[in-house]
Amino acid sequence: MIYADYNGSAPLLPCVKDYLKRRLETDLFANPNAIHSMGQKIYSGIEKCREVISKSVGCYPDQIFFNSGSSEGISHILFSCLEYAPKNKKIIIASGIEHAVIPSALKYYEERRGFEIKKVDVNQDGVIELESLYKLIHEFNSSIALVTIMAANNETGALQPIRDISQLCQENNILFFSDTTQLIGKGDFHFEDSGIDFAVCSGHKVGALTGSGFILAKNPTLLRSYIFGSHQERGLRGGTQNYMAIETLAVALDDFMKNKNKLPLLEEARKKFEAELKKDFLDCRIIGENAQRLAGTSLISYPGIHGQAIQIELESHNIFVTTSAACSDNQPETSHVLKEMKIEDDIGRGVIRLSLSYHQNQNDYEMILKALAQAFNKLKKIKAY
Ligand SMILES: Cc1ncc(COP(=O)(O)O)c(C=O)c1O
Repeated sequence: MIYADYNGSAPLLPCVKDYLKRRLETDLFANPNAIHSMGQKIYSGIEKCREVISKSVGCYPDQIFFNSGSSEGISHILFSCLEYAPKNKKIIIASGIEHAVIPSALKYYEERRGFEIKKVDVNQDGVIELESLYKLIHEFNSSIALVTIMAANNETGALQPIRDISQLCQENNILFFSDTTQLIGKGDFHFEDSGIDFAVCSGHKVGALTGSGFILAKNPTLLRSYIFGSHQERGLRGGTQNYMAIETLAVALDDFMKNKNKLPLLEEARKKFEAELKKDFLDCRIIGENAQRLAGTSLISYPGIHGQAIQIELESHNIFVTTSAACSDNQPETSHVLKEMKIEDDIGRGVIRLSLSYHQNQNDYEMILKALAQAFNKLKKIKAY
């Protein structure tokens, strides 16, 4: 079996599985907020995790706020920055390639809270145009409540110039939130060096338990209480902490620090795979080909063949990939990300996303190439459109 959907969800890392097996034998259970020693033990475990994670992502422990994952983290950050924005700041700058959480939240702030969204241009490779951001910042400067641009795109893997964006925002005193869900645990990231004001992480993208994650806040006083409750996470996120999941986050991100030197090998294997694919199938398109991308992400399309059909063929070889298209009743639609990149429909409807990890066997790409070649050759004959 080859699992190639790490951008969708990563399986538990082997070290996380081992940790959990041992952990479940310990009988260390309690409410971390209880004053008895069992509770305090759990509480100090959480604080230790905060410290381990802070080293892995390059921040101070008190800049980390645990939660259930990125959808919650993003909602919390937008709530803090927008509900509490000064009355004269009604402009939000966003890219059109953000994960669905962001456009759906921004729609709410636009329709119900009187904000206006200004979109930054992206190029054909799915990378935002700094010049367009520069123009927007200069046009709307004092009215801007927030700039929100992701760090790495979940469909194409394209890395965004977050260092340049944060510099531009800092120079103009504007808050910058970057959705780092796909970058943390998959690529180089150092919160302090990035200059970003807010970032997020999701446990199930990094090989930890689903339902865990955190926010990183450069200045935590800018965060507002989002889930009411007791004093958990310094009063900003009520609810008993998901401590065992938090422990797995620390184990997973610590493992990433120890293994991230394997990323160049993964990138090399991906590039070789893409080059061979293009050599054998001249019509095949790699979306975002010229962009710097996450080491193991390829978004591939063969004009006229539905992505779902390729996905099913690959699954018959025990290879698990996904399409990035929103599908209903076998009528796949080009995703909003690809539309923003002005990718034609016959390409956009045909995409499949391969997202691999540095933990995988480097030969996996060879097996995928073989299965993909068989699928293309078979499906070319019965082109869908
Ligand atoms: C870029 C990006 N942001 C946010 C999310 C949402 O994350 P979660 O599943 O933790 O809510 C995802 C998940 O697919 C993602 O890829």
